[in-house]
Amino acid sequence: MSKGHVAIAIDGPAASGKSTLARELSQRFGLIMVNSGAMYRAVTWKIIQLGIDPADEASVIEALGKMDLHCGVENLESTIRIDGQDPGEELRSEAVNLAVSAVSAIPEVRRRLVELQRGYLDFADVVMEGRDIGTVVFPDTPFKIYVDADATVREERRVVAGEIDAVAERDRQDSGRATAPLRIADGAAILDTSGHTIETGVAEAIRLLREQGLELGK
Ligand code: DC
Repeated sequence: MSKGHVAIAIDGPAASGKSTLARELSQRFGLIMVNSGAMYRAVTWKIIQLGIDPADEASVIEALGKMDLHCGVENLESTIRIDGQDPGEELRSEAVNLAVSAVSAIPEVRRRLVELQRGYLDFADVVMEGRDIGTVVFPDTPFKIYVDADATVREERRVVAGEIDAVAERDRQDSGRATAPLRIADGAAILDTSGHTIETGVAEAIRLLREQGLELGK
C-alpha cells in the first residue's frame, strides 16, 4: 500500500451495485471514490469521437498515445478529462456500452489507466470499483469485496436507469479477455446484492470490511 493510504477494492460484473456501494462508503467515511469504469468509458468515448473502430487495436493504441488524460477529484469522486473535455453523460451512452469491452481488453489501454488509478492512492484513502481492482490494481490490499447480483436483477437495474446496455454480453467479454479478466480476487469477500436494499447492502459490506480488519469511521 502506498504511503500508508488505505485502498478498498470493489469488483464485480456490470450493474452488480459496485458504484452505489463505493459511493456510499465514500460519503460515509470520507474516502475518495474512484470509478475505474469511467476511465475505460472515457477512452472509448474519445475513440468513437475520433471515428476509430474500437476493434482496430493498432489505431486505438496510436490514438491513446496522443491523448491527454487528466484525472482529478470533485466532491470526493474521481473525474476524467480527455484533451480538456469532460465526456459527461456521454460516458453511459449505448455506443460506449457497446464498445467499451473491446477497448478495455487492450493491454496498452489497461497499462495506462492502471497507472492513473494507482496514482490516487498517493494522496488519499480510496474506495475504487471496477473489474480488476483486487486482482491487478491493488492486489496487496486486505480490503476487497466482490459484488454480485442475479443476472435478471442486473438487467432490470439498467432498464430502470433508462440505459440500453447488453449487460450479459459485456460480462462475457470482460470475464473472457486475456488481460485482467473479471474474477474473484484472492481474499475477497463476496456480497450478493440481489436481495438487499442499499441500506442493508452497505451495512453488510461494512461488516465484511471490518472482518477483513478495516477500521472505518475512526
Ligand atoms: O463499471 P462499468 O460498467 O462502468 O465499466 C465499463 C467497462 O469498463 C466494463 O465493461 C469493462 C471495463 N472495465 C475494466 O475493464 N476494468 C475496470 N477496472 C473497470 C471497467
